[in-house]
Amino acid sequence: MVLPCTKRNGRRCDIKIASIVGARPNFVKLAGLIPYIDVEWEHVIIHTGQHYDYELSKIFFKHLNIPEPDYFLGVGSGSHGYQTGEMIKRIEGTLLKEKPDLVIVYGDTNSTLAGALAAVKAGFRVAHVEAGLRSYDFNMPEEINRRVTDHISWLLFAPTDNAVTNLLRENVMGEIYLTGDIHVDVLYRWIEIAENRSTILSKLGLRKGEYIVATIHRAENTDDEKRLRRIIEILTSIAERSLIVFPIHPRTRKALKMLNLLEKLVMHKNILLIDPLSYLDFIKLLKYSKLVITDSGGVQREAYLLGKKTLVVRDRTEWVELVREGYVVITDIDINKAMKNLATNTMIKQSIKNNILGDGRTGYRIMNILSMKLSGNKPTLM
Ligand code: UD1
Repeated sequence: MVLPCTKRNGRRCDIKIASIVGARPNFVKLAGLIPYIDVEWEHVIIHTGQHYDYELSKIFFKHLNIPEPDYFLGVGSGSHGYQTGEMIKRIEGTLLKEKPDLVIVYGDTNSTLAGALAAVKAGFRVAHVEAGLRSYDFNMPEEINRRVTDHISWLLFAPTDNAVTNLLRENVMGEIYLTGDIHVDVLYRWIEIAENRSTILSKLGLRKGEYIVATIHRAENTDDEKRLRRIIEILTSIAERSLIVFPIHPRTRKALKMLNLLEKLVMHKNILLIDPLSYLDFIKLLKYSKLVITDSGGVQREAYLLGKKTLVVRDRTEWVELVREGYVVITDIDINKAMKNLATNTMIKQSIKNNILGDGRTGYRIMNILSMKLSGNKPTLM
């Protein structure tokens, strides 16, 4: 348990950090910084309420040892303008009340953008964890969110060389630091715990190495009928050869229902449609899968760290390094390409030799930089 910030217990209460989160991938990244920030400084967690379902929100806090948010702003779903606008209004009020020394935002969700905008406009400095990722596709809301966030942040924590190059090319005003990917810290920290605690394989009756994991949730796939139909065709074709476990995001469930495709998947004997999983269950499911099919950025990295090959049902990825390494194959919605890759190679290796995403010390590096910038401490060896 983290002790309250009092001079008596030795914590420095002179610095206050506010973290703004709202959606699943924000929570995972926050979990990577908690072990560092919470033992040093006062840390206020502001949850916008973008994700409100238990499986998408609360269970992440519970399983990843993230303290209960200090503020839950309850914004909920809506159009991008509505959701982002409501968040900005409510975050602004909270920040003016708390007056943090620094606001940290994570990744590229609407909560990230709203948090960064509300903060800079109210005169607070912003640090962006996972800066510099680009798809160069403005049809993706995430691309708009991260670009704007990068241009208004003071400290930019980039996960890869490529992310640094992107930021330099855009002449961002903030200070750029290559820190590695915070997802590595979180996966390394929790994978053994997941191994012992998660009963997901027995719960679903799965045998190790005998199933594929699929996740689909990006707006450009779920909100485009042609693409979504094609993706379902790909999944059902693949399911003729292998069992697919498909934890389904509420957005995808809703879209499939509207197209009368949900029932087809529910009834399919080789597709196991399940509710979204907690982080621990999900990484254990990935660990024993033979292949991954996804449109998620986070899942591509987690699959790579667990030595799995991933077929990406998008026409590009921000994680170009993983394509170079041969772990990620961009199949988009090309059924032949997907089937060919299925035939040629499934599980690659159990463990990767040179982890190109970092060494699991990203949180430590970020904390060192923050310590130097906020309290003038000299950086220790990074
Ligand atoms: C958001 C992020 C995306 C991230 C994803 C992880 C943006 C623009 N997108 O997408 O980058 O990969 O989270 O899950 O921020 N819904 C529920 N329950 C919830 C939350 C959402 O049912 O708890 C439904 C709502 O009908 C909502 C839809 O899902 O309209 C989309 O939710 P939203 O939070 O806008 O985006 P995500 O698709 O979750």
